[in-house]
Amino acid sequence: MPFNDKIITLITGANGGIGFELASQLLADGKNFVLLGSRSQEKGEAAVQELKKRSLPGTVELVQVDVSDEQSIAKAAGEVEEKYSRIDALVNNAAIAGETPPTHSLPRRLTAAFLTNSTGPAIVVESFAPLLSKSTAKTPRIVNVTSGAGSISLRLDSENPHQQMKVVPYRMSKAALNMLTACQAYEYGPLGWKVFAFCPGFTASGLSDMNKEELGAKPTREGASPIVDILAGKRDGEHGGFLHAGGQHPW
Ligand SMILES: NC(=O)c1ccc[n+]([C@@H]2O[C@H](COP(=O)([O-])OP(=O)(O)OC[C@H]3O[C@@H](n4cnc5c(N)ncnc54)[C@H](OP(=O)(O)O)[C@@H]3O)[C@@H](O)[C@H]2O)c1
Repeated sequence: MPFNDKIITLITGANGGIGFELASQLLADGKNFVLLGSRSQEKGEAAVQELKKRSLPGTVELVQVDVSDEQSIAKAAGEVEEKYSRIDALVNNAAIAGETPPTHSLPRRLTAAFLTNSTGPAIVVESFAPLLSKSTAKTPRIVNVTSGAGSISLRLDSENPHQQMKVVPYRMSKAALNMLTACQAYEYGPLGWKVFAFCPGFTASGLSDMNKEELGAKPTREGASPIVDILAGKRDGEHGGFLHAGGQHPW
C-alpha cells in the first residue's frame, strides 16, 4: 500500500488559513500523508488541487468533514477507516470567530461557537480515537488549535494587549477547548499519546476582517510552522500544555 510507511495526519478546516498552510508545510516532507479536512467539498477539492499543483513530495487527499455535524464526523471517520485503517496525528484546527459586530442573539452565537470550536473537536477525537489507537507511529499526537483568547488568566490580565477584545462566544468556546485538551491529555497520556493546546497568535487568515498582515497579523506560514514542530515530536515534553510559538500561555 502506498501509505503504509507514511505519517497520516488529519487536519480539520484545512481548505484555507492556518490549516491549509500547515498542510502545505507538512507536504514538504515526503513521509507525510495529509488528510485535508474541509466542510465544503468544493473548497476542499480546490485546496487539494492547489497543493497537488505545487508538486510537493508528500501526499494529500480530501476528507469532507463538517465538525459542527455529528453525522458528517461519523461518515468521515468511517471513510478514513475504510481507506487507510489508521491515522497517526489529528489537528483540530477548524473554528469560527463569530460575528463582529453581532447580529444574532447571544444564545444563538454561543451555540454556534461551542458547536464548532469545542463540541466538534470533542466528537472528532472520540470518533477518530480508534484510528489513532491503530497508529503505526511510536507516538500518536492530538493538537487542538486554540487561542490565547480562551485563557481565563489572560482575560483578567490588564497588561494583556488583547484584553479589550470582547468576542465572548469565541473566548468561552476556546476556554472549553482548553479544558477538553486537559481531559484528553489525562485520558490518552497513559497510552503514550501526546496532546496539546496550541495558540498560533494573531495570524493572517480568513478568521475575521482583522486577520490581515497590514493590521499587524503575522504571516500565515509563521502561525502554522510551530504545529509542524509539535507534530514532529519536538515539544513532546510539553504534553498537556497550552503552547504558543515561544513557550506556554497560562490557563
Ligand atoms: N488567525 C488567528 O489570528 C488565530 C489566533 C488564535 C487562534 N486561531 C485559531 O486557528 C485556527 C485556524 O483558524 P484560521 O485563523 O486559519 O481561520 P480561517 O482562515 O477562518 O480557517 C478556519 C477554517 O475552519 C473551517 N471551518 C469553520 N467551521 C467549520 C466546520 N463546522 N467544519 C469544518 N471546518 C470548518 C473554515 O472553513 P470554511 O472555509 O468553509 O469557512 C476554514 O477552513 C482556529 O482554530 C482559530 O481559532 C487563529
